[in-house]
Amino acid sequence: MKEFVYVDAAASWLKPQSLIESEVDFLANKYANAGRGICARAGEVDALVLDARKSVADFIGADKENVVFTSGTTDAFNRIVNIIKNTIKNTCPIVAVSDLDHHSARLPFEMLAKNGGCKIVEMPLDSNLNIDISVIPNADVYIVTAMSNVLGVAQDMTAITNVIRNKNKDAIIIVDAAQYVVHNKIDVKRFDCDFLCFSGHKIGSDTGIGVMYIKSPDIWKADKFGGGMVNRIIDLENIIFNKSPEKFEAGTLPLTQIIGLPYAIKYLSNWNGGHDLIEYMYDELSKIDSIKLLTSRDSCMISFVPLNMHVLDLGAMLGARNICLRVGNMCASWIHKRLDIDGSVRISVGPWNTMDDVKYVIENIKNLVK
Ligand SMILES: Cc1ncc(COP(=O)(O)O)c(C=O)c1O
Repeated sequence: MKEFVYVDAAASWLKPQSLIESEVDFLANKYANAGRGICARAGEVDALVLDARKSVADFIGADKENVVFTSGTTDAFNRIVNIIKNTIKNTCPIVAVSDLDHHSARLPFEMLAKNGGCKIVEMPLDSNLNIDISVIPNADVYIVTAMSNVLGVAQDMTAITNVIRNKNKDAIIIVDAAQYVVHNKIDVKRFDCDFLCFSGHKIGSDTGIGVMYIKSPDIWKADKFGGGMVNRIIDLENIIFNKSPEKFEAGTLPLTQIIGLPYAIKYLSNWNGGHDLIEYMYDELSKIDSIKLLTSRDSCMISFVPLNMHVLDLGAMLGARNICLRVGNMCASWIHKRLDIDGSVRISVGPWNTMDDVKYVIENIKNLVK
């Protein structure tokens, strides 16, 4: 039996040594707070944070002022709801969602709708389960999941945002790039989105760090208040807030995670995407009658349902063979509902995986589902 085969990259990536070393070095030798101190060491930390912000900005085609650090995609989506509500008061916007959405992207808006704060409309999917650009509804806000965490297919972001802008040039377009970022180049200017979010831990960075791109930070009101985001309080009627990104970064930032982030970006950039492994697995799994594949050969991950056993039983038995993968509803209830299934099994690979790993996974699946 293999010691440990981690094929759950889409849930979270294993960490590169360079990132671990950078974070340990920061904690052991360079630590100070950022944005507050005037000693040389604090200045060095400020420079490291700035470098990390620039590295993220280059990575997604943004300017550094538009890159806000969050604790992850879930945090960003919950914050965006509050940013919109703080800025556009006394309205009930129409929010377009789709069955591709992860709970983290859609639920904050669904909860707002439950309290009467917005109305939800559906963006239909076509027969291939992609957002159908021929029937995009009218709305004020659009949540666009750039890649489903179950189906692993990159959506045609420019086509989608073009159609939306032609319908409503002032629409607020929010992109969930949590999975897309792993497999595709992000270009926020080409996407013409208002917000775009992803999590560091899905590209090899530490947990507790995420990115929220904001196209026009000056038009949005802050959603969190505290140290670092205020320039001066003259009195409570006259508070001068800092400009972005500080305006959206109240309190002490997760410095260690931020300083590691450029190492994750570099690690990701040097990866070939693992398509050879996915294609091999797809071909092998296609030969098994007792499973139903949900993804295609060119998807960035493999999802399937075993026909003769429960997904949780299969997951537990694979786990007992030291195979770490994801089973269940993947925090994506809507797509599972649409496919009329309770859950699925997902295999996803990262730079650490080998052909030997995937052969071991296939062999065990074959033995268990027959
Ligand atoms: C498409 C998608 N959106 C959002 C999230 C939420 O990310 P996090 O848990 O890092 O906030 C995930 C995580 O699985 C995801 O795959």
